[in-house]
This record gives sequence, structure tokens and C-alpha cells, in this order.
Amino acid sequence: MMMKSVSLLAFMSVLPAALLYAAPLAKGPVGDPAAGQSKSAVCATCHGRTGNSLAPEWPKLAGQHAAYLVKQLLDLKSGARKSPVMGPMAKPLGDADIADIAAYYAGQSLELGAADAGLVKTGERLYRAGNRDRGLPACMACHGPAGTGNPAAGFPLLGGQHAAYTAIQLRAYRSGERNNDRAAMMRQISSRITDAEIEAVSSYIQGLYR
Ligand code: HEC
Ligand code: HEC
Repeated sequence: MMMKSVSLLAFMSVLPAALLYAAPLAKGPVGDPAAGQSKSAVCATCHGRTGNSLAPEWPKLAGQHAAYLVKQLLDLKSGARKSPVMGPMAKPLGDADIADIAAYYAGQSLELGAADAGLVKTGERLYRAGNRDRGLPACMACHGPAGTGNPAAGFPLLGGQHAAYTAIQLRAYRSGERNNDRAAMMRQISSRITDAEIEAVSSYIQGLYR
């Protein structure tokens, strides 16, 4: 009984934090997608020309919310999000470059993936319902039923993303290696997920679309 009330409390503690931060993000310069296309030539090696990366460890950027892309590039540039690969790529970018590149990728079409049939059930349960006993909110509560996220609240698009990349990020939040999430939202959530659940929910997300 004691356990139950503690975990329910934990469950309740995440959502108010999300609502608190659901205020519109600060507006930076408005990006020019055409300029962003030429400025992103070097990025295409890994993320693909239209932001649909080929290697599953490299995130797809196509269709991602511009404000989320801007935040990540600023964090990668400052080192608030640590990546030996992306840090040096983000370093030389100025505010206007970041806005332009984000506008370009946000306007591209995401190439969808598919989920592993054997993992769908477990992944879907976690994504849509969370786990009350462990104080785990549904991913859907913030990232939306179709994984489209919520740009105003800073909740990224997830649907269609490579499962390998999603799993890497969930493990990085869980270990604290990625710690640029406001109010530690994703660190709290990932700390309550098992390795098997990470694999299942990442696969489910790869096949999730509107
Ligand atoms: C050598 C391959 C490589 C190149 C070139 C590269 N990236 Fe990346 N990018 C990555 C990897 C790997 C990650 C994931 C980093 C991590 O593990 O946190 C990433 C992550 C990102 C993210 C975060 C995506 C998310 O969903 O959070 C953005 C935005 C991004 N890259 C933009 C760019 C831009 C803009 C350029 C060009 C200026 C670029 N990248 C060049 C490999 C690359
Ligand atoms: C309370 C709201 C909330 C809930 C619930 C939530 N997330 Fe998140 N998630 C966020 C926010 C905010 C970010 C962006 C953090 C940042 O700026 O780095 C994020 C980022 C992510 C990312 C990184 C995306 C990328 O492109 O790098 C993944 C993966 C992710 N969430 C998966 C999940 C999964 C799986 C669940 C359910 C087990 C979940 N999230 C539940 C708010 C939430």
C-alpha cells in the first residue's frame, strides 16, 4: 500500500512540471528554409539531404519542430547536450544559421519506418498507458497519440524516428549523460523504464505515424 501511494505521487509529479513548461518558447530569428538548405550541405552526410538519415543511430530531422531543433542545436553548441560528434558540427553555427537550418528540416517530409511485430504490444502499452504502479506517465500524454509532439510546449516529434536512435537517447537520459531536458522530465521518466521496455517502445515509435 505504502509503495503504491509513493509511486502514484511520483506519477503525479511529472505532469504538472510539463504543464508549467507548456508556455510558448522564446522566439528567436525566423528561419529561411532556402538558406537553410544550402547551409545544411555538410549535415547531409549523416542526416540525409532531406533530413532522413540512413544510419539508424543518426536521428531523422525531417518534419521535426523548428523550435525543438533550435533548442537542441543551441544545447549541442554550448555543450549543455554533450555529443562528441555533434558538438563540433554545432560550434560554428550562428543564431541565424541555426534558425535557417531548423526551418529547412522542419519543412521536409519524414520517411516513416515500421515497428517489429513482436514488440508492438509491449511498446504500445507503455506508450499509450504508461505504468501506474511504477509512476510512469504515458508517453502519449506529452508526445501525442501519433507521436507528433507539441511544438509550443517543447515536446518533440517522435513518430517514425529510427528505433536505434530513440533507444540510445532513452538510455542517455536514464544514465544522466543527456541532461538538457527541462525540469528533468525525460530523466525522471527514463529512470523508471527497463531495457526491454526501451527496446519495445523505441520499435513502436519507429512505426508510429498519423
Ligand atoms: C558525422 C555525422 C553527423 C553530421 C555530419 C551531423 N550530425 Fe547531427 N547528429 C549526429 C548524431 C550521431 C546525433 C545524435 C547525437 C546524440 O547522441 O545525442 C545528431 C544529432 C543532431 C540533432 C539533434 C536531433 C534530435 O532529435 O534531438 C540535430 C538538430 C542535428 N544533429 C543537426 C545537425 C546539423 C544542423 C548538422 C550540420 C551542421 C549536423 N547535425 C551534422 C550526427 C551528425
Ligand atoms: C511530461 C512530458 C513528457 C512525457 C510524459 C514523455 N516525454 Fe519524452 N520528451 C519530453 C520533452 C520535454 C523532451 C525534450 C527534452 C529536451 O529538450 O531535450 C522529450 C524528449 C524525448 C526524446 C528525445 C527525442 C530526440 O529527438 O532526441 C525521446 C526519445 C522521448 N522523449 C521519448 C519518450 C518516451 C518513450 C516516453 C514514455 C515512456 C516519453 N518520452 C514521455 C517530454 C515528455
